[in-house]
Amino acid sequence: PSPTYAENHRPQFHFSPPAYWMNDPNGLVWFDGEYHLFYQHNPHSAVWGPMHWGHAVSRDLVHWQTLPVAFAPDEDGEAWSGSIVVDQTNSSGLGRDGVPPMVALYTAHNRAFKAAGQAQPEHQNLAYSQDHGRTWRKYAGNPVLPNPGDQKNFRDPKVAWHAPSHRWVMALAEGDHTAFYNSPDLKNWHYLSTFGQGMGAHGGVWECPDLFPLTVRESGETRWVLLQSLNAGAPNGGSGTQYFVGDFDGTRFTPDPRFAADSQRQGGIWLDWGRDNYAVVSWSGLPATDGRRLTIGWMANWQDARKVPTAPWRGAMTVPRTLELHRLAAGYRLSAAPVRELETLRGTPRTLPARTIDGTQALDLAPATLSQSDMTLRFDQPAGAVRFGLLFSNARGEALRLGYDGTTGSYFTDRRQATGQKFSDTFATGIHTAPRTATGPHITLRLLMDAASLELFADDGQTVMTETFFPSARFDRVALFSEGGSTRLNGATLYPLHGIWPA
Ligand code: FRU
Repeated sequence: PSPTYAENHRPQFHFSPPAYWMNDPNGLVWFDGEYHLFYQHNPHSAVWGPMHWGHAVSRDLVHWQTLPVAFAPDEDGEAWSGSIVVDQTNSSGLGRDGVPPMVALYTAHNRAFKAAGQAQPEHQNLAYSQDHGRTWRKYAGNPVLPNPGDQKNFRDPKVAWHAPSHRWVMALAEGDHTAFYNSPDLKNWHYLSTFGQGMGAHGGVWECPDLFPLTVRESGETRWVLLQSLNAGAPNGGSGTQYFVGDFDGTRFTPDPRFAADSQRQGGIWLDWGRDNYAVVSWSGLPATDGRRLTIGWMANWQDARKVPTAPWRGAMTVPRTLELHRLAAGYRLSAAPVRELETLRGTPRTLPARTIDGTQALDLAPATLSQSDMTLRFDQPAGAVRFGLLFSNARGEALRLGYDGTTGSYFTDRRQATGQKFSDTFATGIHTAPRTATGPHITLRLLMDAASLELFADDGQTVMTETFFPSARFDRVALFSEGGSTRLNGATLYPLHGIWPA
């Protein structure tokens, strides 16, 4: 199929593959001016299938160029999720002519192993590139981390340099926990410790871990964050990304006691409470002058990803986001925001004057300003059991609602009426909710709307919800609503966003 990028539901400022299936982001790495985005991909059909690594690069985290498939299934099996590092010191010896190699650690998944009587289908392989990721060679000594023989789930290695111990450290998902390994050279791996049994949410298997340090904004101290995807068991059903905050001493991850207790009590603390942000991982190798922790996630949910009504592609990424670590009244918490580079897509802003909302008030906005946009709305938190927010709709009676619910102190999204045609039994069964953790008297909602997705960053990204929806025609009307009492809007700024695809 030849993509036009103008297909119904095609994201206009999010990455999606030109055609066919995509799931997890893989191998996120910056090298010599390029952000690499590899991804789980089936280049032959729009269903999950024999997994390859697709590949795209960007110089600005906004515009992406698709490159040829990097890894294809071979005698070792399929190429499942993994990560890439730039081996600056050539610790692996795989560099050439003084150019540091890009080294990929990924899971080779081989169903045939089991058929042949071997115990388990997953082990970790190494591949390397000496030409900035354009061509790849498999390491002759694979697997670099064999399956111990009894690990059914043994996958998604995320590798980073740990300077204090002078070792590479790998986080690996092993079913109901994550294990850590280290290596001096990326080829020889030593078991360190495990984390997670009995900790946080366990409604399904743990997948796609990521471990990194972050500086706490308020105190300047450094804490370690473990992102930990989980399928199923997310708060609004299906797959989702939880996280832990604690310390890592080069051997062991120890969660902050208060964070651990909250995670236990709440059944997990989530990077994103919406249904559609999975396998979130971060970029490695950013230049030292860029102190950010940049992430991207697969904007889908395993419960219905295989059925979403898009063609000729299936799957999109979230916008790249910057994570920050805070120390709040509630303890350590992450916040997330769209990367600032996205602001380059902004067109001429519209502002809304302050007003009091009671009932439903239509806004007079050009369709482009609402169906492909970046908007920030500032409200006073209403007293009592008031529910307020935004209502998007089209002439076909399809509608999407989102906002804040004072009866429960939580944000919500409601896509039950937002889809033209029913394609899955699980996609739109209830209202999705996310607890508000911020405590101030003002509620700020920043919302990125694209053809088939919303990303809600409430309270400067302290609570995030990402949701896809598939209306038969774009939403071209928007209204503000307030039920159970009135809500004060203090003002709003709305930017239409330019698309990223060549015209
Ligand atoms: C997560 C995941 C990974 C696995 C990959 C296979 O979505 O299940 O654990 O490596 O997808 O495509």
